[in-house]
Amino acid sequence: MIVCGQPSVPERSETQCVFGPRLPLPPHRHSKRRMLSRNVARASTRLLGRASIPAHHTFRRTLAAPTKPLNATEVSIERDALLSSPSARAPPPTNISLTGCLAVIDKSAVLDKRARPIYLDAQATTPVDPRVLDAMLPYLTSLYGNPHSRTHIYGWESEKAVETARGHIASLIGADSRSIIFTSGATESNNMCLKGVAHFYRSRKRHLITTQTEHKCVLDSCRVLQDEGFDVTYLPVQSNGLIDMAELEAAIRPDTVLVSIMAVNNEIGVMQPLEAIGALCRAKHVFFHTDAAQAVGKIEMDVEKLNIDLMSISSHKIYGPKGIGAAYVRRRPRVRLDPIISGGGQERGLRSGTLAPHLVVGFGEACRIAKEEMDYDHRRVTALAKRLIDGLSDIPHVVQNGDPYHRYPGCVNLSFAYVEGESLLMALKVPFSPSARILLTCRTSRYRQVPHALPPRLNPRTFCAPSAPMTTWHILQYALE
Ligand SMILES: Cc1ncc(COP(=O)(O)O)c(C=O)c1O
Repeated sequence: MIVCGQPSVPERSETQCVFGPRLPLPPHRHSKRRMLSRNVARASTRLLGRASIPAHHTFRRTLAAPTKPLNATEVSIERDALLSSPSARAPPPTNISLTGCLAVIDKSAVLDKRARPIYLDAQATTPVDPRVLDAMLPYLTSLYGNPHSRTHIYGWESEKAVETARGHIASLIGADSRSIIFTSGATESNNMCLKGVAHFYRSRKRHLITTQTEHKCVLDSCRVLQDEGFDVTYLPVQSNGLIDMAELEAAIRPDTVLVSIMAVNNEIGVMQPLEAIGALCRAKHVFFHTDAAQAVGKIEMDVEKLNIDLMSISSHKIYGPKGIGAAYVRRRPRVRLDPIISGGGQERGLRSGTLAPHLVVGFGEACRIAKEEMDYDHRRVTALAKRLIDGLSDIPHVVQNGDPYHRYPGCVNLSFAYVEGESLLMALKVPFSPSARILLTCRTSRYRQVPHALPPRLNPRTFCAPSAPMTTWHILQYALE
């Protein structure tokens, strides 16, 4: 939904989903969706008996179904109703009749009739795209076979879906689908890559390099390896949050086995120079791992172009389900790992355990959509971020953190000078107008690595991370009010 004053981001009108307007779907995708819906309905009927299908089942399906396109009058009524609230302190308007996209948001995001704050921290997680949910549902009902069962159709159906999803994920990062290993998320992938490579090559190489601003699961994996006798160099970052390539080069030793540097920082959104890091690592014969949980599906990532040997990916950062992710493990030149989970030898023996087809399928669909819509979403997120920053620019002493150019625009990270981060949060939590609260994430208490990348005059405790990718324009406007 587009409201007046918005920069020129292409409008999508025919199919609405929770994140706002989408491009009209080609006819075959409509029919595919109808087919899926029919399949689910038939499956439910078979499983539950026609009479026992609850009424809300039909209602629930409408979340993912295309909703009626809004016409211009409806858009302006909706916009006016939302924006007519005189200030953030006023009680939330109660007489708004939600239509179109807003209605979908209201139902699927369970906004509790505006009793909950507006959520803008998409670095932490995102809701499931209704199209992803559509793709997942059959694998929770009729198509429930074990994808590792090789002797019957139930297994084959699930296996086929898993392999299709693997293909979508591989295609998003320019990889061979055989190099995608499903895991429970980026935390497990990071553990698997760091510990697995270190353990496999331990007899020859015992040194790893990472940065001080990595996600905690990378830093903690390194600490565990240090306890086991490995040597780890934690590179500092510059005041813009980026590493110094000369420092990285100087840190590489003859016994360095792995360099692990994240693609996009989850706190301040800066993008590390992956291409230069990849080229350096390849030249020095050191494996290059990147934690791309915040990058895949948002910016272009090509493992060949960037010389990436190992990569961690998470589904729930890109509108896929939680509890699923992947590790990319290069096959040529081959990277060897000691598995951290042993058992039935699934996933090339690197990650045992029965896969969850519904999660895998959802993850694959999220990647397919992310690839298809990446350009559009990037422009949209850039416009939203600009709106958020402009909207806050009246407040004095607000500084945006991180390199202004090498960054993912959807992560807006601001320092409010002279204000304690906790005080800011408390102020926003005052329950005078629940609908106008913005859910900011103040991460300094659990994340101590980044503050030194901030200008010294700013109290690092004022470090907060509001981010707004895929948020609808009017929600952002409402939050700013
Ligand atoms: C950079 C980064 N790495 C790893 C993770 C962990 O991902 P997951 O929740 O899939 O385990 C996150 C999630 O916050 C992240 O932002």
